[in-house]
Amino acid sequence: MLRGRKILLGVCGSIAAYKAALLIRLLKKSGAEVKVIMTASAQSFIAPLTLATLSENPVLSEFEKDKTGEWNNHVELGLWADVYLVAPATANTLGKLANAIADNLLNAVYLSARCPVIFAPAMDLDMYQHPSVRASINKLTEYGNKFIDSEYGELASGLVGEGRMAEPEHILSYIENHFSSEARLSGKRVLITAGPTYEAIDPVRFVGNYSSGKMGLALALEAKHQGADVILVLGPNSLPKEQLDKLEVVPVTTAQEMYEASEQRFAEQDIVIMAAAVADYAPANPADEKIKKSSEEYDLKLNKTVDIAATLGQQKSSQFMVGFALETDNAEENARQKLEKKNLDMIVLNSLREPGAGFQHDTNRITIFGSDNKKLEFQLKSKTEVAKDIINEIASRIP
Ligand code: CTP
Repeated sequence: MLRGRKILLGVCGSIAAYKAALLIRLLKKSGAEVKVIMTASAQSFIAPLTLATLSENPVLSEFEKDKTGEWNNHVELGLWADVYLVAPATANTLGKLANAIADNLLNAVYLSARCPVIFAPAMDLDMYQHPSVRASINKLTEYGNKFIDSEYGELASGLVGEGRMAEPEHILSYIENHFSSEARLSGKRVLITAGPTYEAIDPVRFVGNYSSGKMGLALALEAKHQGADVILVLGPNSLPKEQLDKLEVVPVTTAQEMYEASEQRFAEQDIVIMAAAVADYAPANPADEKIKKSSEEYDLKLNKTVDIAATLGQQKSSQFMVGFALETDNAEENARQKLEKKNLDMIVLNSLREPGAGFQHDTNRITIFGSDNKKLEFQLKSKTEVAKDIINEIASRIP
């Protein structure tokens, strides 16, 4: 159930830390990738070697790596994780996190994490009920964090009451439920076009554009993450192989090839997202041999390529179709026109005038227009975050 999910486990100093070993085993068995961060005091309760062996990853604890001057990058860890699970979470750590105190790696990662954070508290019953602890929990809940309530039972103090960390099996099912509620596209088939197309002038030259395919890749990964069966019809690119290996990719070069690959698979799709920057014109008569520089001027005759979005838009039956509009002027008007002309259900506008948005950048700023006239504006975000916004919006619009 957790195949491919990345779980960062924060272990604090509590007797319940020994349960982290079992929890890691369960998470791993369920298919998750697990990385562990421990506080210094957690290491008095369970050895880092145990958790490193079970998680198959080095356990991190300090900002500095083995006194080498190299640092464990808390920002990267925060970005790596799909979920940051702090289990056991002690009163001490909850208090610090509620007040943005970043005095160890575990706490600093909390402040950098963009993923959901889930706490499984563990403490003695009076501590758990103490107004200051309740205040920390309330504050952290207000900030959008989730809590797996402590359970009733025998405590290390010999007292009996609420405060025991939830059992690892219970934590596992909480995490599995968390992801299955995220899997909003489960069973849906999604085709995404991405990247540029190259139209040959001769065997060594082409007409193309600066599209990197990053937005399309982020969309494909997010749709897959949300449970969809994804096909990425991808133009020439230098995207990271390890990311592409996670997906079914149909490599294409020209607009015609992109059209044929998309058209062949169109009928069985539920959602089609056209993120590709397709060349609008292609050389009319590409040369078989390299063109020599013989004259002062060279005229290149271009013919219009097939408009993939518009052609498929005419064929659509139940498919939910999403296009992109990259504009420099009259952005909103042009985007709305394309939405209508190409018979799309939704269009994502990014303006080339916006700093940090569009081709080659890792960030993007978008506005979404629906065929129902709904308009949604978003902030400048990483393409991964933008992909989440787009996929979430699609998921909320399909039956
Ligand atoms: N598109 C397509 N096939 C094409 C051209 C565009 O599928 N031959 C798709 C793009 O993937 C995008 C949408 O149509 O989803 C709009 O692309 P854009 O280049 O902004 O619009 P064009 O229709 O090419 O119009 P223009 O270049 O004149 O702005």
